[in-house]
Amino acid sequence: MWTGRFSQATADRVLRYSESVSYDWQLYRHDIAGSLAHARAQMHAGLLTQEEFADIEKGLRSIQEDIDKGQFHWDTKLEDVHMNIESELTRRIGPAGAKLHAARSRNDQVATDSRLYCRSMIDETLQALITLQRTLVQKADRYASVRIPGYTHLQRAQPVTVAHHLLAYVEMLQRDRERLVDCRKRVNVCPLGSGAIAGSTLNLDREAISAELGFDGITQNSMDAIADRDYIVECLFCLALIGAHLSRLSEDLILWSSAEFGFCTLSDAHTTGSSLMPQKKNPDVCELTRGKTGRLYGHLTAVLVALKGLPLTYNRDLQEDKEPLFDSFDTVLQALGVNAEMMTDMRINEDRCAAAVSDPLLLATDLADYLVRRGIPFRQAHECVGKAVAMAEREHCLLSELTPTQLRLISPAFGDDATEVFNLDRAFDLRTNAGAPNEHRTANRLKYWHGLLG
Ligand code: ARG
Repeated sequence: MWTGRFSQATADRVLRYSESVSYDWQLYRHDIAGSLAHARAQMHAGLLTQEEFADIEKGLRSIQEDIDKGQFHWDTKLEDVHMNIESELTRRIGPAGAKLHAARSRNDQVATDSRLYCRSMIDETLQALITLQRTLVQKADRYASVRIPGYTHLQRAQPVTVAHHLLAYVEMLQRDRERLVDCRKRVNVCPLGSGAIAGSTLNLDREAISAELGFDGITQNSMDAIADRDYIVECLFCLALIGAHLSRLSEDLILWSSAEFGFCTLSDAHTTGSSLMPQKKNPDVCELTRGKTGRLYGHLTAVLVALKGLPLTYNRDLQEDKEPLFDSFDTVLQALGVNAEMMTDMRINEDRCAAAVSDPLLLATDLADYLVRRGIPFRQAHECVGKAVAMAEREHCLLSELTPTQLRLISPAFGDDATEVFNLDRAFDLRTNAGAPNEHRTANRLKYWHGLLG
């Protein structure tokens, strides 16, 4: 590929080791868009005639069409997407093609392409997040009044509702969206014109190039612009955290769909059988989502580590940013899509939920609150109820079955009305504060989400 300085051809092993076109071909639309904007600026700067620009434009468009149709031959000898397209352009249109690289380098070119790629994938991911949020809100709506135990340490803690549980994920996904929107601001800055490291003596109109490509502005330091990949790390972090959220949702569904919990049933279309055990119905989508989260973390770590020892500015190590980046976006988009579909078909088993939530121990804290209302300091109240739980265990009865007389053996503060605490409706009604699983609060939050998500 290189003529001039070199008297030996690049070794085959080196070509195979260093080529990136086998994956960075995916940048072709962005690469072509960048080249077009660059060429237009070259024309305005008098570096290209109108005819030459027209040839370049036509050539690039025909190359794009061929790639779109899968009819483009990618040559690994030409290393990357940039060289493949540029050399094909020159082959198709002749001398004008050879002028295109004036005032740019692959260093600012690849930074531009990957920023455009991130921008468009962020936009797709935002849409996919909204779709999953909508699905969760619909499910929350459908099962708004179904109560379940909430868990801490995977031990039954306090009663909540299916809606409250699902809406917790809607909140998480909302912050995931906000993070991506914020990250997009730093992604959407144009590095073109930074050249290899120090700009160019051929000064093109950077603002015009930036505007044509839909960037919000231009980078202000040519060395920073081509050396840093912080915008990629940010994307990978946002994606890794989406993975964390989806993985926790997956884990909940794995538990809920087990015979032990039985809170939900996943559709046959979103589960798989066992090759050996005929009765099995496995939540593979959830397991894969949980498993794939590992690689999202791995990709984030890989790029962070690749960056840490690099002197300014461009080093070939930076080529290692692409596979993790592409794979993380692809993985998250797939995960969001399949999870939205799976959640649409997920059914809640109301009987099993009702049975589980009828456990009066879920309201032990409410009994302590009752004592607090009667003037007992919380620490003492906590101890009294702890004793009541132990008493019920000794007596082989439910906490709610202890009589006021029995409770008064523990503390005289227990009145005859103490057992009213075990009325679930009342327990939910009393939790009136914002953020609690109270019916009205949930209804309001559902309204809020419907309004926001449409
Ligand atoms: N394929 C290269 C990358 O992804 C493009 C930039 C190459 N620049 C260079 N000076 N070798 O980073």
